[in-house]
Amino acid sequence: MLAALSQVIDPDLHRDIVTLGMVKDLEVKNNRVSFTYELTTPACPIKDQMEAMAREAVEAIPGVEVIEIEMSARVQSTEEAGPLLPTVRNVVAIGSGKGGVGKSTVAANLAIALAQSGATVGLLDADIYGPSIPGLMGTRALPKVIQHDGKKLFEPLVAHDVKLMSIGFLLEPDAPVIWRGPMVHSAVRQLLGDTHWGDLDYLIVDLPPGTGDAQLTLVQSLQLSGAVIVTQPQDVALDIAIKALKMFRHLKVRILGILENMSYFICDHCDTRHDIFSHGGAQRAAQELEVPFLGEVPLAPDIRESSDEGRPVTALRPDSPQAAAFRSVAHSLAAQVSIAAARRRRTISLRAV
Ligand SMILES: Nc1ncnc2c1ncn2[C@@H]1O[C@H](COP(=O)(O)OP(=O)(O)OP(=O)(O)O)[C@@H](O)[C@H]1O
Ligand SMILES: [Mg+2]
Repeated sequence: MLAALSQVIDPDLHRDIVTLGMVKDLEVKNNRVSFTYELTTPACPIKDQMEAMAREAVEAIPGVEVIEIEMSARVQSTEEAGPLLPTVRNVVAIGSGKGGVGKSTVAANLAIALAQSGATVGLLDADIYGPSIPGLMGTRALPKVIQHDGKKLFEPLVAHDVKLMSIGFLLEPDAPVIWRGPMVHSAVRQLLGDTHWGDLDYLIVDLPPGTGDAQLTLVQSLQLSGAVIVTQPQDVALDIAIKALKMFRHLKVRILGILENMSYFICDHCDTRHDIFSHGGAQRAAQELEVPFLGEVPLAPDIRESSDEGRPVTALRPDSPQAAAFRSVAHSLAAQVSIAAARRRRTISLRAV
């Protein structure tokens, strides 16, 4: 039975599903076979295809008549995030070299897309000077303070099935934030560590623009699974994205991939696609820099409008092509996390030999 199932190869991890430990609770009784097929992320776009391949492999065994497969998913860590976040499996930072490229929009939509796939997700707004997550996710309230293991912690707010924390929940709206670097450092550490995140598959961190204090604090305070670089198609925007990429590399943070935001234009009236800038630059840059390319998100008026309303397009119009673009990026990102986590497990098991 296991020999048959080991013919099924995971397309991202390039190894068979038995070696990868994805086949659980295998039972063979007379002509009936049942097992659980545990994927490494619920955000797997080809879940049905993988189930069909496993079914076919078992069907080929003479005498098997009934096959019951239970599909499940368990997200693995690429790194222990560290003592500040003991129950968070993967921390993913969304960054870019400059402002206004759509980091917060991307962070919010990716968090929602991952949560829609069934993952447990948090979203931390690490932009202390210009928090935009409360507005984007349409929620603003003072988080409750609870006692947990003898510590006072903030209970995160929840919107669109994503747990949220932002300095924007703790300050008066529109209060100017005039803080020096060390204060930004301690604010980011507190938002991270003094929040009762609970069990999370992915904590998405929306970074402020540039390469400043929040980025450094994050890297010094915990082990990131990696960073996603948001870029735009124009050449100058790409150069700046490459600078951000080099900063993360310098800080020894894994680059999970680049995505191109506002890549092409989808017109509200005719629903057709127009390439305003020469799109595709991010994909070429990703190839040259040997980092994964996660996909393209269009420039679309309803992406901005829905964000302004506090219901990002992935939540408001999940069937739109815009939501599909974010979902596809979320799937690629989850796949990159799975690949990094599988590498880590292999290294650990090789060390144990
Ligand atoms: N794909 C898109 N289509 C249309 N509008 C977009 C898109 N992405 C972002 N926007 C809009 O562009 C503006 C800037 O986006 P956002 O705030 O996400 O950028 P940012 O990189 O987080 O900015 P900052 O550096 O200030 O934090 C917002 O008004 C947002 O709604
Ligand atoms: Mg932002």
